[in-house]
Amino acid sequence: MKGIILAGGRGTRLNPLTKITSKQLLPVYNKPMVFFPLETLLKSGIKEILIIVSNDRPGDFMRLLGSGKEFGAKFTYEIQDEPKGLPEAFIIGKDFIGDDNVVLILGDNIFEEDFSEEIKNFKKGGKIFVKEVSDPERFGVVEVNENNKAISIEEKPKNPKSNLAITGMYIYDNRVSEFANNVKPLFRDETDITEIHKQYMSLNELEVKKINGEWIDAGTFESLYKANSFIRQKELNKKD
Ligand code: G1P
Repeated sequence: MKGIILAGGRGTRLNPLTKITSKQLLPVYNKPMVFFPLETLLKSGIKEILIIVSNDRPGDFMRLLGSGKEFGAKFTYEIQDEPKGLPEAFIIGKDFIGDDNVVLILGDNIFEEDFSEEIKNFKKGGKIFVKEVSDPERFGVVEVNENNKAISIEEKPKNPKSNLAITGMYIYDNRVSEFANNVKPLFRDETDITEIHKQYMSLNELEVKKINGEWIDAGTFESLYKANSFIRQKELNKKD
């Protein structure tokens, strides 16, 4: 299993903070944001990690994270020239993925969950992780039937069919690069990852797993603030 951290984009929702640095390098209490998704991958046993960054700050990421040796892992870097959407990670990462399965985690997603078992037991298809939220319209939203099978998926729906948000952690087999090539932009210039989920769903190969731990997409002022206080509390609890 290989891992990709997508830390591209312009972070426009966090302007002016992101005028002088990348969103994923902003502090979340005591660490740069990107450390959290990185730790999630490392904790789950992934050692080969591709970090995709935007073209304006590759040096900052490399200075911060280095070769990966310090983390007992091997890091590779690629540049996303324009924020064309999440599916592009699998096109940029095609050679890196090779014949393996892959986990994609978004550089602004903070998880409490331990995904080791999920990653160890993954065989084929696609797997997404969902969490009940009070503001599903901010996210990809999945509707499931009584057997937890996905029956509909929508990106940022105005009238969400459920309160199950799709988090920024995805496991796929290596058909994902081919599926990413089929995706066309929907309602904005960027392509949406939900269009990849739908291809697995149409083959009945999309698994949906609810997570219990805290999950924060730190890409807005409110959620960045929440992430800071969540991590602060965790750090203080450690000292007790
Ligand atoms: C992206 C995905 C969305 C997902 C979210 C999780 O949205 O498109 O499906 O729910 O990440 O963080 P973005 O935050 O890039 O707008």
